[in-house]
Amino acid sequence: MAASSVTQLTPGNHRYASLIPSLPTRPPSVLLLSSSGPLSSSPSSSSLSSSLASPRSLRVEFKTSWKRKPKPKALRVDCSAKEPLKVMISGAPASGKGTQCQMIVEKYGLVHISTGDLLRAEVSQGTEIGKKAKEYMDNGMLVPDDIVTDMVISRLSQRDVKEKGWLLDGFPRSPSQAQSLERIGIRPDIYIVLDVPDEILIDRCVGRRLDPATGKIYHLKYFPPETEEVSARLITRSDDTQEKVKSRLETHKRNAEAALPTYLDLLKRVDGNRPKEIIFEEIDSLLQQVYNAVNNKNLDEIKGKLVTNLKVTASNKDNWRGIPTRLNNIPHSKEIREYFYYDVLQATWKAVEDKRSRLKVEINIPELNPEMDVYRIGTLMELVRTLALSFADDGKRVKVCVQGSMGEGALAGMPLQLAGSRKILEFMDWGDHGAKGTFINIGSIGAREVDEQDDIFILVAPQNAVGNCIIDDLKAMTDAAGNRPVILVNPRLKDLPGSSGIMQTMGRDKRLEYAASFENCYCFRLLYYAGTQYPIMGALRMTYPYRYELFKRVDEPSGKEKYVVIATFPEKPTGDEINDAFQGKPRNKEKTTSGLWGFLSSIL
Ligand code: AP5
Repeated sequence: MAASSVTQLTPGNHRYASLIPSLPTRPPSVLLLSSSGPLSSSPSSSSLSSSLASPRSLRVEFKTSWKRKPKPKALRVDCSAKEPLKVMISGAPASGKGTQCQMIVEKYGLVHISTGDLLRAEVSQGTEIGKKAKEYMDNGMLVPDDIVTDMVISRLSQRDVKEKGWLLDGFPRSPSQAQSLERIGIRPDIYIVLDVPDEILIDRCVGRRLDPATGKIYHLKYFPPETEEVSARLITRSDDTQEKVKSRLETHKRNAEAALPTYLDLLKRVDGNRPKEIIFEEIDSLLQQVYNAVNNKNLDEIKGKLVTNLKVTASNKDNWRGIPTRLNNIPHSKEIREYFYYDVLQATWKAVEDKRSRLKVEINIPELNPEMDVYRIGTLMELVRTLALSFADDGKRVKVCVQGSMGEGALAGMPLQLAGSRKILEFMDWGDHGAKGTFINIGSIGAREVDEQDDIFILVAPQNAVGNCIIDDLKAMTDAAGNRPVILVNPRLKDLPGSSGIMQTMGRDKRLEYAASFENCYCFRLLYYAGTQYPIMGALRMTYPYRYELFKRVDEPSGKEKYVVIATFPEKPTGDEINDAFQGKPRNKEKTTSGLWGFLSSIL
C-alpha cells in the first residue's frame, strides 16, 4: 500500500515551502489511508483480568503472505474531520530528514518546520537573529537554545499548524530543547530517527545541492538534477564542506542522542541507508498506523510496537530513562509496567539478534512477584505477551510454554503460582489479527512441544516443585530446540534436596551446570535488607549486552527519590560484592558476610 503511494509522488518542494510562500502544498483534506482495523484498547489497571485484556504490540499487518489476512482495500478518509498528525524527525546531518520530509508533506500535507531552514532564511534576510545564528552554523555548532526554541514555539502556535498538523525537522536537538516543548505540553505522536553510518553522511553532505527555485534537494551522485537548466542554478550550502560536516556530526552526537529519552515511548528508528523510496515506504506505513491510532484514540496501544522496533538498532543504554520511583507501591501504574516490559523487550531482542539461544529474564519487582501475591501472575503473563507479540510482529513463530502437571492429578507437581496459568494463556486476548494459532502457540515444557516451524520459545516461570524437578523436561526441550532461542522468564531452577522421580535421571552437578547454561539477557532486582521488603535500598539491573549496574536509592530533600549507580560488574555480583559496594569498600577485599543482602542466595 505504501509503495503504490510513493510512485504517485510528484517532485517535492516542501523543505523550503515555509520560506517560499508561492510554493503549492497538497491540501490535507483527503488522504489515502489503509483501512487496517483499530487496535485494541490498553489495559488500565494491573488486576489480573484487566492486565490481560488486550495485547500491546502486534503489527497491523503481518509481513509474509501466508500469514496475511485478506489485504484491506484503500480507504478514503476525510482528514479535516480528524486529528492532525504531529511528527518529529531526527537524525544526523544529511541522514535524509529533508528528503523524507518532502515526501511526507507531499502525502500528508503537514506543515514542515525545519529549524535549519528557518535559520538559513534569517541568515539570508540579514536579520538580527540571522547574524547571531550564522556564526554558530558556520562552525557546525548548535545555535543557542533560546533563539531556536522561540522560533519553533512561535511557528507551532500558528493556525495552519494547528489545522494541518506538524512535521518538526531538526528540533529538538538537545535535552533542554525537548524540555522546553514538554513544559508547554507539545509532544509528537511519533519520533522518527533516521540511522545512517557516518562515512555515508559525509559523502551525502559534500555532494548535496539545492535548487533555490523549488527548494528541491539534489545530490550530484545519487539524485542528479533532471535538466541542464536546473543544474545551472543549483547552490551548495555553506556548511556542506568536509570539515564543517565533521564538526556538525560531532555536535549532533553530543546533543541529539541526549534528547531521545524524552521520546523513548514514541521513538522509531528507521534505517536511513537505503533508497529514499524504501525508507519512505516504512515511514509512510508508520504514519498511517499512528494516524489511525490517534484518531481511534488508542495511540498508547501502538507505542509498544514503536518501541519494539527500537530493538534492532537502539542502544538501550543510550535511551534508558532511569529506574522508575516508588516501586514498592503496588499495583504499579501502567507506565511503570510498560517501562519494565520494554526494558526487557529491548534486551531480549538484542540478545536474540546476537544469536544467543539460551536466555533468561529475571525480573523481581513487587508487581511481577507472584510469590508475594499470586494475582501478580497476571502481570507476568502481560510481560510474556508483550515479548511474544513483539517477536510475532517480526514474523517469528513463538511458542509460549508453561509447565503442566508433573505427577498424578491435575495440579500435581505444579507450583501454586502456575496453577491455571495455561488456561490464562489460552484465554488471553492475543489481538484481532489472528496471531494466536499462527504466530503464537501455547504449549507445555518438554521435547514433544518443539515443532519444526517454531522459531522461538518463551517459557513462563519454569520452576522446580518439591519432589518434581523440571530440569529433565527442560533439557529435553532445549536439546530439541537446537540453536533456536529458548527464553526463560523468571525461572527458579535451584536444586531441590528432596527432589525425586525423573529428576534422578541426571546428577546434581549436571543439573546445576545445565541451569547455569542460560545466560541473563535481563536482570532487575530491588535490594532490601535481608528478610525485609521495606525500605528499598537499591537495585541491581543488567540489560544485555551491558554490565550489571548496582544502584543506591537516595531520598532527596524535596521528598523525591532517585537511583544512583554506585558500581558495575561484568558478572552478577554476589551478596558480599553488593555489601562492599554499598559500604564503599574496595573490590575483592576479604570480609565476613554481614547478611545484608541475604536474598541473593535465592537466585539461581
Ligand atoms: P539543518 O539544516 O537541520 O541541517 P542538518 O541536521 O545538518 O541536516 P541536513 O539538512 O544537513 O540533512 P538532512 O538530514 O535534511 O539530509 P537531506 O535530506 O538534505 O541544520 C543546519 C544548522 O542549523 C545546524 O548545524 C545548526 O547550526 C543549526 N540548527 C538547526 N536546528 C537547530 C536546533 N534545533 N538547535 C540549534 N541549532 C540548530 O539529504 C542530504 C543529502 O543526501 C542530499 O543530497 C540528498 O539528496 C541525499 N540523500 C537523502 N536521502 C538519501 C538516500 N536515501 N540515499 C542517498 N542519498 C540520499
